[in-house]
Amino acid sequence: MIIALNNKSNLEKIEFESYIKGLESISTEETIILCPTYLNIGAANSSLKIGSQNVSINENGAYTGEISATQLKSYNVQYAIVGHSERREYQRETNEEINLKIKQLLKNDITPILCIGESLKERENNQVKEVLKEELSIAIKDIKEEDKKKIIVAYEPIWSIGTGIIPTNEQIEEVFAEIKKIVPKSKILYGGSANEENIEQLKQIGAIDGYLLGGLSLKLEKLKIFLQKLH
Ligand code: PGA
Repeated sequence: MIIALNNKSNLEKIEFESYIKGLESISTEETIILCPTYLNIGAANSSLKIGSQNVSINENGAYTGEISATQLKSYNVQYAIVGHSERREYQRETNEEINLKIKQLLKNDITPILCIGESLKERENNQVKEVLKEELSIAIKDIKEEDKKKIIVAYEPIWSIGTGIIPTNEQIEEVFAEIKKIVPKSKILYGGSANEENIEQLKQIGAIDGYLLGGLSLKLEKLKIFLQKLH
């Protein structure tokens, strides 16, 4: 399974040094993708697979504060999260920008981990399919079929992220089936409050190819239990 760890804006220099040692000492057969902050990518120097949490829509050039896909590639970054709901909300990231980011990543042979997910209001208004279809179809616009299947999709209901609440298995299965209609060959992750307790419920869902973990990525003892319970 794919286990992507989203550190978000956490772990300072010294903290990260001991964190990465702890993470490397966990023995697991899963594919672990560590997504630290940009600064910690430079310090990772690890046998783990590394992902970023974002990428620029542009190539190298006069774009102050941005990090390009070619720069990420030069630091051996193999994956990049794009379209996380926190960026969609706080940075006002649009589906069209996410599409440009995915194109930059694919051009540089970096695997996009595309986050999509509905808000609670959208779920209550019965708009889940519509919202996810829009997010997904614009994100993959004008991308060749052979490239589409390289994209990993992470279904992260916004109301689940950091709240401790997860959808029912039926709700997740329903959404995964919709995603599969659009990108049948993509791997699909679940993200949003997945932890060492609710994994017992989540693992009943056969369609899940892996997990995107936020809070749990910072709690190595609990992450270890999560990984042990996965199968
Ligand atoms: P969470 O975050 O596991 O803390 O809910 C997941 C995410 O935002 O990717």
